[in-house]
Amino acid sequence: MAKIAPSILAADFGNLERDCKMVNASEADWFHIDIMDGVFVPNISYGMPVLKAIQTVAQKPLDVHLMIVDPDRYIETFADLGAVVLTVHYEACTHLHRTLQKIKSCGMLAGVALNPHTPVHVLEAIIHEVDLVCLMSVNPGFGGQSFIENTYEKTIALRALIAKKRATTQIEIDGGVTNQNAAALIQAGADVLVAGSHVFKAEDPPATIKTLKQF
Ligand code: DX5
Ligand code: ZN
Repeated sequence: MAKIAPSILAADFGNLERDCKMVNASEADWFHIDIMDGVFVPNISYGMPVLKAIQTVAQKPLDVHLMIVDPDRYIETFADLGAVVLTVHYEACTHLHRTLQKIKSCGMLAGVALNPHTPVHVLEAIIHEVDLVCLMSVNPGFGGQSFIENTYEKTIALRALIAKKRATTQIEIDGGVTNQNAAALIQAGADVLVAGSHVFKAEDPPATIKTLKQF
């Protein structure tokens, strides 16, 4: 059974409290929080004041996904805002080892996200330092895109790398996750499934989360 992390990017921002309470009351495990800067990705999502509002309502761990350049500048800020997992992009970090150490020294779990074109073997030398790898199954920047099929292969390769290195890293899949691909992703080795549109655009979001938990 995988963890399910509904992505708040797909929530109704006019009813953010209602949607966060829905996640609280559901079988979801984490809140997935997408922070975009309009530079690393071609979109701007939301920032600190909105995250603060989410934090006051959320009763489950905040899984914060930074799609920003130079994320080191904000690590302490996100720790103060209650992030439990803080994920940075491999493609945005020149000194990834230092960045991960800083995240952990601030008391958070350290995640690394890989864009669809980035192979998993780039993490071979550092996998022991990584609590979570987020495999992007869409190009980051927008919700509601379709799932990129090479993700299965990458998940299998990452699972093998983690086993080979005897690491305890969790594998998260982010983008285009639905009840059509969830079972195959878990079969391939996924531990955490992020789902935005599939959950929030559903007629019955709690039931949709429940179904994802059953795979
Ligand atoms: C994409 C974000 C995802 C997104 C997922 O850049 O990182 O977390 O919110 O949304 P769906 O599930 O709609 O693809
Ligand atoms: Zn995300």
